[in-house]
Order: sequence, then structure tokens, then C-alpha cells
Amino acid sequence: MESCQEKETVRASDQTTLIHRLLDHLRAETTQLSEAPLRVPASHYASDNHLERELSTVFREGPSVVGLTADARAPGDYFSAEVAGFPLLVVRGTEGRLRAFANACRHRGGRLAQGRGCFEGSAIRCPVHAWTYDLEGCLTHQPNARGGFEKIDPGTLGLRELPCTERNGLVAVHPQADGRIAPEHLLEEFADDFQSFDLPGLHAFASRRQTWRCNWKLVLETFLESYHVFSLHRDSVNEWYLSHPMVFDEADHGLRFPVVRRSIEGLLDTPESTWDLLAHATIQYWFAPASLLAFTWDHWMLWRVEPTAANSCVTEVTLYTSENVTEETKREHFERTLELHLRVAGSEDFPSQERVQQALSSGASDELVVGQNELAVGHFHRTLQHLLEAGARPHRRQPRE
Ligand code: FES
Ligand SMILES: [Fe+2]
Repeated sequence: MESCQEKETVRASDQTTLIHRLLDHLRAETTQLSEAPLRVPASHYASDNHLERELSTVFREGPSVVGLTADARAPGDYFSAEVAGFPLLVVRGTEGRLRAFANACRHRGGRLAQGRGCFEGSAIRCPVHAWTYDLEGCLTHQPNARGGFEKIDPGTLGLRELPCTERNGLVAVHPQADGRIAPEHLLEEFADDFQSFDLPGLHAFASRRQTWRCNWKLVLETFLESYHVFSLHRDSVNEWYLSHPMVFDEADHGLRFPVVRRSIEGLLDTPESTWDLLAHATIQYWFAPASLLAFTWDHWMLWRVEPTAANSCVTEVTLYTSENVTEETKREHFERTLELHLRVAGSEDFPSQERVQQALSSGASDELVVGQNELAVGHFHRTLQHLLEAGARPHRRQPRE
């Protein structure tokens, strides 16, 4: 993996240093640069074969961040997710522990639950024939079966449990029962940030799912550079955000990338003691392979991208708030906020990427060029390539944590 030309690593908590880096670039009209540009072949976006390699290595050989503590806060709370087509169910047990299960009934595969909610009476009930499991995944009831399963030990029919880790308010699941989730998969490098945000104390406000006719990586790339803001968003968020400078901090399994608001220019003449980066940037964290957490002003958003084909994907975004929103005016404010994000991404970023996909799939573009200024996009691709190569090598799986 290439290192950046400017060694700008900082302690995650050091917002002042991050502001200094940004202001130095602002004054000099420069931006952080990587060592070299990158050329990404069209096949990485358009080939079914390449997607299959990504699914079988990057997605299935490693964990994914599938949600936040806020998605299942109390015993009995649950949420569903998919990783590379694998349906998951994350449930908080009576003792407060989060568990992940394959979201498939042990009878004949019924989907146990969808979305986010709470299992009444601490019972997970399959909608198809009402087989019932407790929150630990043990089969407790097979109603109306008329002796049909007496020859099968119900102890062998518990839900398939998967590795699940909850750390700093983030929830990661590995889609293989013997898979390993390490602290670095949850970007422990930025733990100070997550703790200062009090991620475990957040509340899930609303989620939206949408389908896009482009490769999953094209969706994530829109978040990882602000270079396009002055042009693609000239009539929308360009009013509030700068295209440059771009600075980022890398991690083995992700990165941190702030998109800087124009208001940061006001800090050029103010004392350091009054600086607060959070007021002047949207701070984003990409978790390999396909999750992105973003903080803006008074809310957090978790974007998850699920590949459905080489040229299509589904996005699921959830907006989180620091308080449980009950007041009508606040509810309206966060509904408008979510709609604004979806409008900008859904009418400018993602449709533009659908047209890029058409160019890649048709052969009109045979490669994409990532500049040295687009260094977060470069790190994104280099990380995926590294995971692809590591996953393709035969290896002995390390013991689970
Ligand atoms: S498939 Fe779930 S009870 Fe039959
Ligand atoms: Fe954008």
C-alpha cells in the first residue's frame, strides 16, 4: 500500500492539528497529495467475475459494520442487514449482549424479521409456520406441528450464530461462523473520535433503502472526494462546502475524510482555543468494505452499500440523533435533513455515477483515473485490492477473538 507524500498522521482526537493541516493548505491553496495517481480498469466495475471475487473475498472473508448500538438498544431489539446477499439478524439478548444470526429459520428457511424493531415477549417467531426461538437463538416452540418433528432433537435446530462485536457504539458482523473480528475492523485508530461523539448514546431516527444502477464502489467514491462539489453540486451544497483542500487519515481497514465547510475560512483569523472542527466539516469514516459513517452538525448517518450485480447496488442509510426525537418541530427538522441528503445524493451524485457505469459497461470508458488529490478514493481502491489479494490466498483462519 502506498504511503502519502505528506505524512500527516495525527492522533484521532487532535482536532486542532487537523484544522492546522486544513488551514495550511487553505493559505497555500494546496491540498494533500498521494504519491501517485491510480488507474482503475473498467472491469473492476463492469465484470461479473470481478464482483464475484469481491463478494467471495472482501465481503465474505471479513466483517462488515452493519449498524450502530442505537439500532438495537434494549433487550429484545433487533435489526436486519445483508452482507453480500447473506441475510443477517442482530438481536440484543436479555442480558444486554448483541448476537448476530443468519436471518433464516431452521425449519424451511423463512426470513425471521426485516428492518428494525423489538421482539415481543423476547420471542423470535418465524412468520411462516411460527417456529419460535429465544433471544439466544434456541428453538423453544414448534406450534401446530402434529408430531411432525419428533424425530429431530430441537437442540440441533437453533439459529446459526455468527461472530458479532459491538465497540464504541459500532456493530460489526462476520458472515462466517468461524470468522474473526479484530479491533482494527472497527477502526480502533479513530476510537477517540467515536467516543467523543458518544456513538453508543445515539438514537436511530429513520432509514431509507434505494436501488442504483451502478457498481457499489461508485456510490462510495462519491463520499471520498469533495473535488466534485464546485461543479456537480454547483447549485446545491457548493454554497456551504469547499472542494479543496482534501486531507485524510488512513487505516488498514478504512479511513477518515472530512469534507470541509466554507465557514472554516473564518478560523484563519480566530484564536486556536475557539476552534471546533465539527462546526466546520462533515467528518466521514469509511469501514471496509462498504459502510460509511458521517457526522454533520447535529446528526450522524450510516450508509451501507450492498452489491446486487456488477452494475447495480442497494444503498441503506440511517440517520441518527443525539436525543430521542419526540418534539414535532425537531422531527420535521430531521426529516427535512434526511430528505436533503437523499435529494442531493439521489439527484446529483448517484445518477451521475449511473452514467459513469454506463460508460464503463459499454466500453466508452476503459478505465477511471484517480488523481493524487483524490487520495481517499485512492486509499479505498488500494485497500480493496489488498483485501482481494489477501482473501484469494489460501490461509489458515485465525482464532476468533
Ligand atoms: S420456515 Fe420458519 S417456521 Fe417454517
Ligand atoms: Fe457529492
